[in-house]
Amino acid sequence: MAAGIDDIAIYIPRLYIDAADFARARGLDPIKLQKGLGVSQMAIVDANQDPACLAANACLTIMQKNKLSPDDIGRLYVSTESAFDESKAMNSYVIGMLEQVYGQGAFEHCGGVETKFACVSGSYALYDNANWIRAGEAEGKHALVVVSDIAKYDMGSSGEMTQGAGSVVMLLNDEPRLLEFDPKVTATSIKDEYDFYRPFGKETPIVHGQYSNLLYMIQVRKALEAYKKKVISSGLIRLKPDETILDHMDYINMHLPYSNMGKKALAYLVRHEWRQLPRWKKILEAIGMDEPRPKDPRGTIESVLADDEFMEKDHEFTKMFTKTKEYQEVYESKLSSSLIASSMIGNLYTASLYLGFRSSLEFEYQKGIDLAGKRVGFGSYGSGSSAMVFSGVIQPEYEQIVKNMNLEVEIGERRRLTWKEYEELHENKLSPEESMLHAKKEFVLVDVQTKTETRGERRYVFNE
Ligand code: CAA
Repeated sequence: MAAGIDDIAIYIPRLYIDAADFARARGLDPIKLQKGLGVSQMAIVDANQDPACLAANACLTIMQKNKLSPDDIGRLYVSTESAFDESKAMNSYVIGMLEQVYGQGAFEHCGGVETKFACVSGSYALYDNANWIRAGEAEGKHALVVVSDIAKYDMGSSGEMTQGAGSVVMLLNDEPRLLEFDPKVTATSIKDEYDFYRPFGKETPIVHGQYSNLLYMIQVRKALEAYKKKVISSGLIRLKPDETILDHMDYINMHLPYSNMGKKALAYLVRHEWRQLPRWKKILEAIGMDEPRPKDPRGTIESVLADDEFMEKDHEFTKMFTKTKEYQEVYESKLSSSLIASSMIGNLYTASLYLGFRSSLEFEYQKGIDLAGKRVGFGSYGSGSSAMVFSGVIQPEYEQIVKNMNLEVEIGERRRLTWKEYEELHENKLSPEESMLHAKKEFVLVDVQTKTETRGERRYVFNE
């Protein structure tokens, strides 16, 4: 049985900090954010928003748009790394909010859990729900997989310039209009690591930034190797001797903690794939230098990062590689459109990859390209760490969905925060009733209990 993404909806908070304002306040060159990281604006949550209400708002949008009733939904999964409870799952809060609109008990049949594995857990949730559909367990019902996060880093840390917030929901079923997953090719890699993690009770993560960048690329490459074996052995794709698996992906969506990380990761994957092919000789001639090798090619990530001479040369080599006509062609045609939303919104952790997919659909369609039949590859990464590579094919009915996509309209009117407002929000100085915006037709947080016997209980309302 087929399974895939039938429709997709987003909810993005309307407050944002502009990269230029951020850079000025932190004494940074704004070009580092805008050009170096590809960050123009970062969405920031209001005092009356948490990841559960971002998720519920996205769910309500997709249900209303598709005129779905709760009976049509068999499963609702929420994937997040911004959990605020160690036991109660975020999907239960989301169901509680949706039942304010659809009636008490309307979702009581609807199974689901909250999944956690840094930014990759949404991909595991998609895979598990696709398999629920493939197994025939769905009995005609749809699954909702919501990825929702607030990417918040310590004040003054290097991660602070890669913040953001938002949620993406995907409606899955056995007759998907947008994308059907390729069966039996989903591949993973996993390793116990401490590149980025958030200990109990801490609101912001502990991050080893450059280590996490390199680990992301290594892990996705390993998952790509496993994916390659599966597509070849399953007969999905037949590779000619001068081809790589990436040649068979019309679009490549990468996890985007910031938009340029997609560029970096794609360059890394393409470089490793092309190295074994006849075309590499021509590339090396165009670059005019040999590919640098670390002092200890079998060393650890730490030893590679500490090898200053190698890092500098490798940086230079990568820059020149990304300027070659051949790489530029791949970048422009397969990745660039997926980065547009990320630079406007920032990091969405679990939701970053899927916001990128959504962005790619809208902006590729706007180029006048017929997307039907195009294969999309996904490179998902979660710190701690695990990667997942999988693919799917855009369906003939895709236009019904994609023709109405309009990122700016869907985000709505935004408000640029002053530095003082940003600091107040970051330091949680405001209570929900002191929110900066008073949104209509949205779920908002009204209260988090502090009394011993009810500590942590959250109340939400739907603002009519
Ligand atoms: N003008 C133009 N470009 C500039 C510049 C300037 N004045 N100054 C710096 N740059 C460029 C740099 O050359 C660099 O570009 P390249 O990557 O192409 O070399 C880019 O801007 C960033 O500069 P640095 O690498 O010096 O930046 P940094 O070390 O201060 O911080 C970071 C970058 C490590 C990503 C940091 O923001 C961070 O720790 N972020 C959080 C962790 C993260 O996002 N990790 C990503 C992988 S892990 C993951 O994906 C899980 C997750 O979601 C968190």
